[in-house]
Amino acid sequence: MSTGRNTVPTDAASPVLLRAGCKINLYLDILGRRADGYHELDTLFYPLPAPFDTLTVSPGTDGSGLRIECERADLCTQDNTLHKAWRLFAEATGYAPDLHVHLEKGIPDGAGLGGGSADAAALLSHLNDGAGPAGLDAGQLNALAARIGADVPFFLRNVPARATGIGEHLVPHDVNLAGFTLVLACPPEHVSTPWAFSAWDREHTAMEAPTATPDRLTSSVHTYTRPSSRALWLFNSFESVVFAAFPKLRAYKGSLIRHGSAAAVMSGSGASLFALYRETEKALKASAALREMGVQTFIHHL
Ligand code: C5P
Repeated sequence: MSTGRNTVPTDAASPVLLRAGCKINLYLDILGRRADGYHELDTLFYPLPAPFDTLTVSPGTDGSGLRIECERADLCTQDNTLHKAWRLFAEATGYAPDLHVHLEKGIPDGAGLGGGSADAAALLSHLNDGAGPAGLDAGQLNALAARIGADVPFFLRNVPARATGIGEHLVPHDVNLAGFTLVLACPPEHVSTPWAFSAWDREHTAMEAPTATPDRLTSSVHTYTRPSSRALWLFNSFESVVFAAFPKLRAYKGSLIRHGSAAAVMSGSGASLFALYRETEKALKASAALREMGVQTFIHHL
């Protein structure tokens, strides 16, 4: 399976192309809210090579720092995860090259696919490759990535991984979806992640601390690792609050299931959804039905 990110090496004068793929969450269990407002999660990240963003990185003019160019003006601000990555990396290592980044967005935002995090991880890896002896080791880079965003550490390695903590404690996972056809549906609806977490908080006001016990954590993973099992445990704690506010998402999921999926679920805080099919023909029909409803789809043969 492609990892979804690649660097196209070129000669020194040419721009470097970085391709940043996206992620889905095969399951996402919110365990509780921490004192700092972040949430403890137990989730299984799975990388997908499409949709993807492309970063074209060229040397910048002297003293310009990082300059981002993007058709979407709203993404060129200092809030962009790319700026945060560049600043934190410069602070940590002293390596602060003048760079011009042309960002082409293919990953929709408000989709729960980790687009901003994927971009930040691609730039961080590029900076670390160029930093020479000032570069960070894997643990330091992971810690720095978590300061940019909870999903950024996952994208540094970009392999299926179970994440706990706020998403930064990662253990590669050997989940095997070979033979499935996956339909990823990206509806026009956008869901804000901070909003989704606060909506979840309002529904779980009594829950103060993480409720997970080691047994509960282990059992969710066993469903995947038992080789004889054909059962798929897709789950997302956000679905009830997000579907209540965006009923069309529930309808899209219903359509994916009615077309014969083995399982279907929302990814991250939404709005994207995905479904797994044992028969490609059913996946193609499901995809066509969603497209008729104005939903963009991507098909992956796993
Ligand atoms: O880390 P990231 O920028 O992706 O998170 C966006 C927002 O989602 C955070 O500001 C926080 O409100 C919420 N969040 C959370 N717990 C997590 C991850 C994100 O509460 N584990």
